[in-house]
Amino acid sequence: MTFATLCSAVHAQLGSRHRYTHVVSVARLADRLAAHHGEDASKARLAGMLHDLARLYPAQRLLDECERREMPIDAFERAHPIVLHARLGAEIARERFGIDDEAVLSPIRKHTTAAARMSRLDELVYLADGLEPGRNFPERAALERLAFEDVAAAMLGTLRASIAFLESRGAAVAPQTLAALAVYEAAGAGRRLSEQRSTVCPT
Ligand SMILES: [Fe+2]
Ligand SMILES: [Fe+2]
Repeated sequence: MTFATLCSAVHAQLGSRHRYTHVVSVARLADRLAAHHGEDASKARLAGMLHDLARLYPAQRLLDECERREMPIDAFERAHPIVLHARLGAEIARERFGIDDEAVLSPIRKHTTAAARMSRLDELVYLADGLEPGRNFPERAALERLAFEDVAAAMLGTLRASIAFLESRGAAVAPQTLAALAVYEAAGAGRRLSEQRSTVCPT
């Protein structure tokens, strides 16, 4: 499948111009981050294009399609089926787009909640999804710049922004997200993030 064919198939699968614009933007940022950090830019771009294939499925369809594939569903996922679009999306990438490269499938699975253990490509696609220019929150641009300098500090900042957003809406935070937060906090990324903030915002 050529990249142009893949793009039109993704557009058809998503069924939304807005969502397609988002995935193209994620793919572009993931590509740039991967090239900068010495990772495989074509895999990052592919994961970016395919990461939200099931994003617009209603909750019941997410549950039904996961059950039909006999995928395990944990208590958080059953209570908040939206997070299943990540793991189901990876299965759709495999089935409809012929992707069998775990380096591409893994970032798709982890892009929503993050996880305690993430590959560098997992991290870069997570960052691209959270920080692409179409996102609109105050720290976005500074965190995007930080993602090119210090991946762990950018992960911590993006996880904190995501958790703050969920909490502001009274939404629950997935256990995998809290586990990821603990890992990056323990790794000392918080100190570097504070240093970055003092550089960006001298006041
Ligand atoms: Fe998503
Ligand atoms: Fe996304």
